[in-house]
Amino acid sequence: MPSMLLGAPWLLAHKSMLSINQPLKVSLYGQDYVLWKDRNNDVHALPNACSHMGAMLSEGWCEAQKDGSSKVVCPFHALEFDGQGCTVLPGSGQQTKPLLEPLKLMIQDDFIWSYGDCEPQMAIPDVLNKIAENYEFVGSTADTSVNTPLLSMLLNNHDYNHQNGTHRDLFRIEEVQFNQFIDRGHHSEAFFKTPTASPTYGVSYVA
Ligand code: FES
Repeated sequence: MPSMLLGAPWLLAHKSMLSINQPLKVSLYGQDYVLWKDRNNDVHALPNACSHMGAMLSEGWCEAQKDGSSKVVCPFHALEFDGQGCTVLPGSGQQTKPLLEPLKLMIQDDFIWSYGDCEPQMAIPDVLNKIAENYEFVGSTADTSVNTPLLSMLLNNHDYNHQNGTHRDLFRIEEVQFNQFIDRGHHSEAFFKTPTASPTYGVSYVA
């Protein structure tokens, strides 16, 4: 959590990554949540630890309801939680008050974002939506996160000249022609060109 920027929007998933009524575990600020999508295409998120004895709800399953919504079911004693975190205790037939506090989600097109419990300090970027206007989202390449010190990662992203070394071979970059750099704190803009070597026909071998 300390290395995550408080008040920033965090992208949890894309709706296409969620199979209908299939719980998925996600993490935010060091807390685990269970995320699931029902037949109405609505997405719900609750803390992943069951309020009874702490079993992981993401290891359970979903029970579809007649109206298309669904509840996530704990794999230990089969308590069913709706999207508000309410359940029906066995034998009582009565719906409880919320026992788990839902994670607030912001869904922009099919991108699922959250600020966690933090006050939003910056808007959700729309760059992904712009990309999605022209490209179809086909999936994600990984479901793990890398523990990276935030400041050094930001510094790396602000360092436009790292292309010259880090990506030189992969993209056959010949040089970085720097034009302008505008520093706005956590947001910067760099204007530069990276001419690449002309493609040639050939065979390369990887040892
Ligand atoms: S631990 Fe979840 S119902 Fe008992």
